[in-house]
Amino acid sequence: MSLNTVRHNYKINKEDREKLNDHRSFLLWFTGLSGSGKSTLANLVEVELHNKGILTFSLDGDNIRQGINRDLSFDPEDRTENIRRIAEIANLMIDAGVVTLAAFVSPYLKDRDIIKNIVGAENFIEVYVNTSLEECERRDVKGLYKKARAGEIKDMTGVSAPYEAPVNPDIEIVTDKQKIEVSVKTILDFIIQKLK
Ligand code: ADX
Repeated sequence: MSLNTVRHNYKINKEDREKLNDHRSFLLWFTGLSGSGKSTLANLVEVELHNKGILTFSLDGDNIRQGINRDLSFDPEDRTENIRRIAEIANLMIDAGVVTLAAFVSPYLKDRDIIKNIVGAENFIEVYVNTSLEECERRDVKGLYKKARAGEIKDMTGVSAPYEAPVNPDIEIVTDKQKIEVSVKTILDFIIQKLK
C-alpha cells in the first residue's frame, strides 16, 4: 500500500551520477536453474567490470534470501514477491549509477516481465544461463536435487516446480557447450557498448 504518499524529486538524478561515473548504469539479470552457473558467471563478469573502473554491485538469490527476503518460501506467490523486491532494490541501485548484476532462478516469465516494468526495458538485460537439468543435477553443488528427489524439499525448480525459459533473452549462455571464459567474454562484448 502506498496511501497518502507524494513522490519527492531530488536535484541530483541518475543522469548526473552517470556523468560523474563516466558510464551508464543498468541491470544484468541472470536467470536459470539452481546450479546452472548464474552466480559464477555474474561474479566473473563483475570482476572484469570492476577492473575496468566500472561501479558494480551483485545481488544473489542465496544471499538475499538469508537477509531481506528471509520471510519468503519457494511457492509461486513468494517467488513473485522475492523477484518484485529484488527488482525494486535493483531499480534503486540503477538510480544510484551502479551496474547491477542479479543472479536469481526467477523461473516465471511473468515475474521477469515485472522486473522489466519496474526498472524499464532500456535498463534490463536478460541473460539466460541455459544449463540442462541433467547437468545441474550431475553437479548438484548444494545437494538440493538429491534432497528434492528424495521428497525432502518441495517446490524444487526443475524437479517439482516449473522453469519457464526466456523466449527472447538478450544473451543465452549454453554452459554445457562453452568454456566459462568464452561465456564471460560474450556477456562483456554485449554490454560494453551499453556502458557508453
Ligand atoms: S527464485 O525462484 O525465487 O528466483 P532464488 O534465486 O531467490 O529463487 O533462490 C534460489 C536458491 O535457493 C537456489 O540457488 C538454491 O540454492 C536455493 N533453493 C532452496 N530451495 C529451493 C527450491 N525449492 N527451488 C529452487 N531453489 C531453491
